[in-house]
Amino acid sequence: MNILRFQRWSIGLGSTSLCVAAVWAFVPPQGQGQGDIPGVGELGGPTRPLNPQEMAQWLRGRAVFDRNFHKSDGLGNPEMNADSCRACHQDPVMGGAGGLELNVSRFGNDNGGAGPFTDLTGGQGLSKMRPPYVGGREEHDPTTADVFEQRQTPSILGAGLLDEIFDAAILANEDPSDTNTDGIYGVARLIDVGGIPEVGHFGWKGQIPHLGDFIRDAMAGECGMTTPDNGRPFGQSTDTDAVADPELSPGEFLEVHFFLLLLGPPPRGGSNDPAVAQGEALFTSIGCATCHIPSMLGPNGPVPLYSNLLLHNVMPGGFRGMVEPGAPAGFFQTPPLWGIRHTAPYLHDGRGEDLTGAILAHFGEADQVRQNFEALTAPEKEALILFLEDL
Ligand code: HEC
Ligand code: HEC
Repeated sequence: MNILRFQRWSIGLGSTSLCVAAVWAFVPPQGQGQGDIPGVGELGGPTRPLNPQEMAQWLRGRAVFDRNFHKSDGLGNPEMNADSCRACHQDPVMGGAGGLELNVSRFGNDNGGAGPFTDLTGGQGLSKMRPPYVGGREEHDPTTADVFEQRQTPSILGAGLLDEIFDAAILANEDPSDTNTDGIYGVARLIDVGGIPEVGHFGWKGQIPHLGDFIRDAMAGECGMTTPDNGRPFGQSTDTDAVADPELSPGEFLEVHFFLLLLGPPPRGGSNDPAVAQGEALFTSIGCATCHIPSMLGPNGPVPLYSNLLLHNVMPGGFRGMVEPGAPAGFFQTPPLWGIRHTAPYLHDGRGEDLTGAILAHFGEADQVRQNFEALTAPEKEALILFLEDL
């Protein structure tokens, strides 16, 4: 039954209310795109078929993600990076990645590279936007920051599946003293939540345990929006503007959380080209799969993310960057590779222009594996890239 298939969602701002109207007008069968909302198995669609009530909640959450917040909603505190979640997570569909121009910045002081690293007052976030009457933190004290790090906007398609990967599955791959002497270590990021260490599932430095935590953190850090206090140390539940807190209501928070929990992973390309299978075999044999593990276990079965969600130092020697408790400079969480063909440019700061560039930028713990890649023949390299483009 394909008759009720409409145009797929494409990047369009403020189109959500129209979409919702279309959905209720046509009510297509499950698994099909609804109006310009993608269906199950399509890029940007839900993880599984949703019943009508769930679909309504999912669409309300999607609308919160898509909403342009205004000053009257509490936007900015008063600094911020953008006025909606979609403003950065938009490529190639809502919830996707963001281009270089959307990178956010962190800054701190590492004493000219000699260390120790210290946070400036107010933390590492360097906001992009603020009202003209508010001096930026870098203007208040321009001499203290001497190290900067850019962060690229990752895709959050499939974030709900990453959220539920068992902590035990992540911890099982740690090798902090390199007992198998392959030169690759790998440690889980542990975050102190009220005295209890929790495993980080999200963020370039694995700095956030769970999806709900990241939503609160992003609402505050990216948009300056306060969120309901749930007793966990992420985000902000009050600020100093005139809008009543929490600026995002408990209902809206639940809706956007529901939307992201059930925002499906990017679908595989599914190519039958034998070169793709050859590339997959090479991916394992040269050692990429040691860190980019093809799948990890969650309560609903294996999650084909191509990551171990552990921190590794793959930066060149002498790299200067942000330091967090349990995550020294240069340590980044192995990024999932599913949907990688849609999310160029690559790496935490976006300096990998294409997939080959991203691979050639692996140093440190990945030195040997990068050299294995460099030693491949041209057709082998091409096969490996074709495989990555099929993920
Ligand atoms: C200004 C651009 C920008 C905006 C706006 C933005 N994000 Fe992000 N998002 C990022 C960047 C950059 C990262 C990576 C941050 C890091 O790890 O240092 C990120 C990471 C995430 C992650 C973690 C993904 C992963 O797998 O590690 C989630 C979840 C997320 N954002 C949700 C949101 C939500 C919800 C909103 C709206 C409140 C939002 N973002 C608004 C840029 C943005
Ligand atoms: C020691 C662990 C390790 C090994 C081995 C490894 N990677 Fe990575 N990979 C990482 C980490 C960590 C990053 C993130 C680095 C950064 O952001 O600066 C990364 C980033 C990437 C990215 C960019 C992802 C994105 O979303 O920006 C690609 C593509 C990639 N790796 C592919 C490969 C391939 C192909 C191989 C084998 C040739 C490989 N990696 C080997 C740990 C590893």
